Amino acid sequence: MTYSSATPADALPKGLKGVTFLKVHDVHHWTDRTFSFTCERPSSLRFRSGEFVMIGLVDGEKALVRAYSIASPNWAEELEFYSIKVEDGPLTSRLQHLKPGDEIVMRAKPVGTLVHDALIPGKRLVLFSTGTGIAPFASIIRDPETYDKFEQVILTQTCRDLHELDYGHHLIEQIRGDEMLSEIVGDKLLFVPTTTRQESPQMGRMTDWLRDGRFADVTGAPLSVETDRVMICGSMAMLQDHKKICEDIGMDEGSNSSPGHFVIEKAFVD
Ligand code: A2P
Repeated sequence: MTYSSATPADALPKGLKGVTFLKVHDVHHWTDRTFSFTCERPSSLRFRSGEFVMIGLVDGEKALVRAYSIASPNWAEELEFYSIKVEDGPLTSRLQHLKPGDEIVMRAKPVGTLVHDALIPGKRLVLFSTGTGIAPFASIIRDPETYDKFEQVILTQTCRDLHELDYGHHLIEQIRGDEMLSEIVGDKLLFVPTTTRQESPQMGRMTDWLRDGRFADVTGAPLSVETDRVMICGSMAMLQDHKKICEDIGMDEGSNSSPGHFVIEKAFVD
């Protein structure tokens, strides 16, 4: 027995009660390590740009789900997700084979700390990401509220290889090509992509750039508690290193209940 949106609610096993089935629209493989996909958005789903939901696949009589940042902005008709592929990852080893028309499952309501509500007002919004940690920021940089709240938005993404930056470059092109969004964004958005293992015009970890002044050179000023508000998304080690840099300049970590200068969230890895 396979379960889908066609299964009557009362015929679903206990482990699948309450899940929402979502039809996949498009799948794009960016590299052999990453892919993105879009799916239908339930009309009842409200979320704040930057939040995550639990999504995954039916696994026998239950749902195999993981936390995924919603990469699409809160006004979009579709949901978009950007994922890593892990060969022996319980979910991504299967999820990477998604095709248009397949169904994923979603559980629980959107939550997260990479949201405007968790930051106090500032002039520059600085979004630090590595790898698929760019996903929540793909949502935030396409949200008009971001440009209402901040004079400048700086998105950094550090990846091992050049190709892994393609998703980010495409995102920026998409914003520039969108009539409404490009007008709202204007020249407020700066994308700073770097690589660490493959030769590229901008090399090195962003943590090193912050320490040695390259961040200040490229963005016009060093990171500052006076002007900057920060969101960080990547691996655990990356979060810790960025967090320390923020704390060393006097920034306090924010949350939904107590907004601060910076917020962090671990990017999904499985
Ligand atoms: P590096 O190649 O020097 O390890 P991964 O693919 O392993 O998730 O890494 C994504 C990117 O994040 C890589 O470019 C990696 O650099 C970088 N990175 C890994 N750890 C840190 C860290 N602690 N601080 C900043 N960047 C990091």
